Amino acid sequence: MPLTHTKDLFAKALKGKYALGAFNVNNMELLQAIIEACEEEKAPVMLQISKGARQYAHPVYLKKLIEAAVSLSNIPIAVHLDHGDSYELCKECIDEGFTSVMIDASHEPFEKNVEVCKKVVDYAHKHNCVVEGELGMLVGAQHDDGEEGGGYSKGGCYTHPDEAVEFVRLTGVDSLAVAIGNSHGAYKFKGEQHLDLDRLKAIKKALLDAGMGDYPLVLHGASSVPKDLVTEINKYGGKMGEETAGVPEADIEIARRVGCTKVNIDTDLRLAMTAAIRKVFAENPKEFDPRKYLAPARTKVKELVRHKVRDVLCCAGHAFD
Ligand code: G3H
Ligand code: 13P
Ligand code: ZN
Repeated sequence: MPLTHTKDLFAKALKGKYALGAFNVNNMELLQAIIEACEEEKAPVMLQISKGARQYAHPVYLKKLIEAAVSLSNIPIAVHLDHGDSYELCKECIDEGFTSVMIDASHEPFEKNVEVCKKVVDYAHKHNCVVEGELGMLVGAQHDDGEEGGGYSKGGCYTHPDEAVEFVRLTGVDSLAVAIGNSHGAYKFKGEQHLDLDRLKAIKKALLDAGMGDYPLVLHGASSVPKDLVTEINKYGGKMGEETAGVPEADIEIARRVGCTKVNIDTDLRLAMTAAIRKVFAENPKEFDPRKYLAPARTKVKELVRHKVRDVLCCAGHAFD
């Protein structure tokens, strides 16, 4: 089965009122875990490649790994550039056959963000590629000293519904990443905090009222930073802040119902992988065969992805709609 186009996945997700999991891929074990989980749950999936992943693994390795996944599985798979930071990087990925790219100029002033996105859209649409833009700035690790500084969410700049309409109209982007209290990384919130779901509803409604239909919104920073994973990491020698918290899964479920079509998850996969590897090393300090710690890591990531697609995103069972 060849790649499935992002636009087809979006159309079916909007119709079926479920969200697509967009999971980040950096190496073979992560990819295998995601694909095996989605196959078992019969879920369509978006694989995301960041600039950092391309630097880490090399674009050709990633391309060939994904080709292997596509040929060995029968679920719909789309490939997306996560946080493209320039026209040139987006163009590279479009030319390589990605079915969608994100151009993230959200840190720029509105006009500059529009200009950069429009340039990517013009090229992408000539080459049958879907474009995701971002308006507003996520709080936390990406735009302040959050994770690096050991701090928590602060500042940021939420997406305004009217500006969202204007932005989509001016750029022609096919999907929009919104800032509604979400943030990247493992240090999103301190204690129990929630997404601004009323704002999400208002953005969705503004786009509908403006004639843009059931417009696909994207939720970045959707990891929930499960307590049990943080506890396990720390139990086996890690030093993560125990009081950190991610986006409650109940909020993600509401976001899905309100109309978030693509939900980005990376950190939770990293936590699962780290917890499993730390456990092996702590319990078997003499172990040095990478397969002995990467296999449990892969299994743990797979369990996590199964849970997300089945219990949170509700895309399980929709692969063959
Ligand atoms: O939002 C960013 C993703 O988690 C990708 O992270 O740039 O470290 O690959 P990365
Ligand atoms: P998390 O850090 O919450 O997993 O977010 C991932 C993401 O938004 C990738 O674009
Ligand atoms: Zn992101």
